[in-house]
Amino acid sequence: MATQSSQASTPTSISATHRVRWVIGNWKMNPTLQAAKNLAHSIAEKANQDQSIQHCRVALAPTTLHLISVGAQLGAHQNITLVAQDVASTGPTGAYTGDISADLLKDAGATWTLVGHSERRTLHHEDEIILGAKFKAALIAGLGVIWCVGETLAEREAGSAIDVVTAQIQAHADILASIAPEQLIVAYEPVWAIGTGKTASPEDAQQMHAALRQVLANIRADLILTSLLYGGSVKSDNARLLAQCPDIDGALVGGASLDADSFLQIAQAFDVA
Ligand code: PGA
Repeated sequence: MATQSSQASTPTSISATHRVRWVIGNWKMNPTLQAAKNLAHSIAEKANQDQSIQHCRVALAPTTLHLISVGAQLGAHQNITLVAQDVASTGPTGAYTGDISADLLKDAGATWTLVGHSERRTLHHEDEIILGAKFKAALIAGLGVIWCVGETLAEREAGSAIDVVTAQIQAHADILASIAPEQLIVAYEPVWAIGTGKTASPEDAQQMHAALRQVLANIRADLILTSLLYGGSVKSDNARLLAQCPDIDGALVGGASLDADSFLQIAQAFDVA
């Protein structure tokens, strides 16, 4: 794996000509502490030895509880980025029982956070108002944001997938109009593909990514270089086809990120200069 400078664990710079490739493991509410440490150690060791991962940045999103322990396992492997799965809309500290602010996440070693994952939108009823507050709180604290969007099966079958997903971007045009490009990644995850074993066809995924890129560019021209990731049942055996799509810059990986080998095979698939 390419050795990166100590800046590799901060939101990355976007060159004028290249979009940054990312493969991010979303461990969700898995695994227990010792298994999380073992998995992080295994991924770090293998990634470090893997000469075929030169251009794709690798990131891990363990539970908030395990950020520090996983970060300690990555210690010597500065080329793996630590991501939080969620962030509070308030902070930096205060009387917010159960919440973890962006400042505290940074303090624990995270440099990016997911915002708007469909499991937060659905199970925690997070609407665009709450999510916008989280988006702002993360940026103010200096965390990069992996903004997650996606349509339900009913919305896709109704033919409104592109409208629904682009609206999830446009709802935050005010934030995006002034964001530092290196603080943004967008992940398109069709809700019906998450954890189901179904993936969008490369054609459908490419069409959505192209639409997203256009919406971002319409908000601000330089956002055309935003890294756009696909998520939803990405596995080592479908990653190569997705990686060939011109507007897909990487993957947000749930289930397959819980196995070091399958996760790194996905990173290899996206390792395109
Ligand atoms: P999955 O999850 O890869 O298990 O479908 C992806 C995600 O929810 O980020």
